Amino acid sequence: MKAIIVGLGGRGRGWLRDCRANPDVEVVACVEPFAPNKERAIKEFNVPKEQLYDTLNAALKHVKPDFVVDVTPPAQHESVAMTAIENKIHILGEKPLSDNYEAAKRVVAAGKKAGVKHMITQNYRYAGLPRTTARLLKEGVIGPVAQIDASLYVPWADAPGSHYVTEPYMFLTDMGIHHFDMMRYMIEGEPVSATALTWNLPWGWHKGDACQLILFRFSNGVIGTHRGVGCTVGHVPAGHNGEWRIEGPQGTLTWEGSDLYHSHSHRAEKKIREKVKLDENETTGGPPALLKEFLKALKENRQPECNAADNLKSMAMVFAAVKSAKEKREVQVSEL
Ligand SMILES: NC(=O)c1ccc[n+]([C@@H]2O[C@H](COP(=O)([O-])OP(=O)(O)OC[C@H]3O[C@@H](n4cnc5c(N)ncnc54)[C@H](O)[C@@H]3O)[C@@H](O)[C@H]2O)c1
Repeated sequence: MKAIIVGLGGRGRGWLRDCRANPDVEVVACVEPFAPNKERAIKEFNVPKEQLYDTLNAALKHVKPDFVVDVTPPAQHESVAMTAIENKIHILGEKPLSDNYEAAKRVVAAGKKAGVKHMITQNYRYAGLPRTTARLLKEGVIGPVAQIDASLYVPWADAPGSHYVTEPYMFLTDMGIHHFDMMRYMIEGEPVSATALTWNLPWGWHKGDACQLILFRFSNGVIGTHRGVGCTVGHVPAGHNGEWRIEGPQGTLTWEGSDLYHSHSHRAEKKIREKVKLDENETTGGPPALLKEFLKALKENRQPECNAADNLKSMAMVFAAVKSAKEKREVQVSEL
């Protein structure tokens, strides 16, 4: 399948590598307006000069791809998606779907009307920990889940000058979306409301708040909490995955570092403390696994997992939480 990579910044170069490594993908063009990144693509990543364009529209005058990989900053996602949709080209779009909920809804509506397949790159859920956890919860290992807690302590986006550092609520919106999406995925519930508090620590380097406590309510009665500090300069317990704890009537599933544990410790019942071997299959390889699902969906003429319409629900968690942080009250998803 023929692909155009749109945006050759840090992440775009990763997608260029992943697309080139997949034998079912041929990168036929790249789009990058920023001269230094263009030069870098030519010199360091061997992108042929004649395959490099300033805009997606310019590229589409010369090549007709099956799909575009949109790796531009979030504010550009709507215009890239709309151009692809107008040309009936499928989209593998970097998260977040948009930095604006109304824009995200417009893109989903337009894509549906045009019959375009649109997948959002929620690559965090394409890993052994969330996949194995979701399977165990489906199998009822700890019974019906009542609470899911995530905590994330990271020195997030510590390079000066990027939009991650200068714009408001980026830790919640740009990083949080992965965790909120995993939460929804694992508990199989849809978000109903969010109550959020956000702040910054005195030494933090983000203009927007990079610390948060959020409580989500889900349609199946589950309570989800997310506690994060994006400006720690100390111990990082579990990388960007964070540490998770899922409570059910038969015990807990916990993510401890890169390990998954099943525990049950009620005094009247048999004690369990087991490290679970993580599933390894076609869905557990990060972005390359996600790309495989996207290509499979195109071949099977169906919407992929993490399609844009489904992703709106993860986006709703983000936008309800931001609204709650601003207005200092519980915000219902139905208000968005
Ligand atoms: N899934 C993940 O784990 C993950 C990790 C990092 C970044 N991302 C996402 O990837 C996207 C890009 O992030 P980044 O860190 O690479 O940003 P970046 O700023 O390094 O790169 C963006 C590139 O897009 C180019 N660009 C801007 N407007 C464009 C347009 N209209 N057409 C073509 N190119 C355009 C810029 O010149 C720049 O080179 C963001 O949405 C970000 O959230 C996802």
